[in-house]
Amino acid sequence: MTKDVIGAIKERRSIRDFKPDPVPQQTLARILEAGNMAPSAGNLQPWHFYVFLKKESIHQLAVRCGQPWIHSAPVIVVIVADLKASEAEYGERGRTLYAIQDTAAAIQNMMLAAWAFGLGTCWIGAFNERKVADYIRVDIDKLRPVALLPIGYPETIPSSPAKKSLDEVVKIIK
Ligand SMILES: Cc1cc2nc3c(=O)[nH]c(=O)nc-3n(C[C@H](O)[C@H](O)[C@H](O)COP(=O)(O)O)c2cc1C
Repeated sequence: MTKDVIGAIKERRSIRDFKPDPVPQQTLARILEAGNMAPSAGNLQPWHFYVFLKKESIHQLAVRCGQPWIHSAPVIVVIVADLKASEAEYGERGRTLYAIQDTAAAIQNMMLAAWAFGLGTCWIGAFNERKVADYIRVDIDKLRPVALLPIGYPETIPSSPAKKSLDEVVKIIK
C-alpha cells in the first residue's frame, strides 16, 4: 500500500536512524525506477545510480562523508550526474545546470517513492567528492557524484523542522 503524492510530500522527513531490516529487492527496484522516471532536459536522463548493500561498502562511504550515522542504513545509493552527456547536447548550460537539475529531480523522486513504501531517506550533500568518486571509480570531470541517499526503515522519525511560510517565498507578480 503506497501513500498519495501530497501525503508523501507533507509527511516525508529526513531520516538519520535506521532499523537493520533489509530493503526488499523489489521495493528498491521500484524506488530506483521512480528516480529514472524523473523529468530531464531533452529526456537525456543524465544520471547513474550506484547501489551499495554490503556493510563494508556502506562503512567506506560513511567515512567519506564524515557522517557516522550513515552506518545504520542498509542501502546507500550514490547518485551521479553524467556531465558529459548533458554537455554534448547543451554545452556549458547542460554541464553546469541541466545535469545537476535533472539529477536532483531523480533524487527527489526516489525520496518520495521510498517514503510511500514506508522507507526513510536523507539527502547527503556534504561529502568528499573526490574520495567518493575514487571509491566508486568514476572520473569526476565526466561523472559527478551529486548526492548519497541512505535508504532504510526509520528507527525514529523526527518532527518536522520549521518551514518558511508561503508569504516568505512566493512573489506574485501582477
Ligand atoms: C542539497 C542537500 C544537501 C543535504 N546534505 C545533508 C547532509 O550532508 N547531511 C544531512 O544529515 N542532511 C543533509 N540534507 C538534509 C537536510 O538537512 C534536510 O532536508 C533539511 O534539514 C530539512 O529537513 P526535512 O528533509 O526533514 O524536511 C541535505 C539536503 C539537501 C537538499
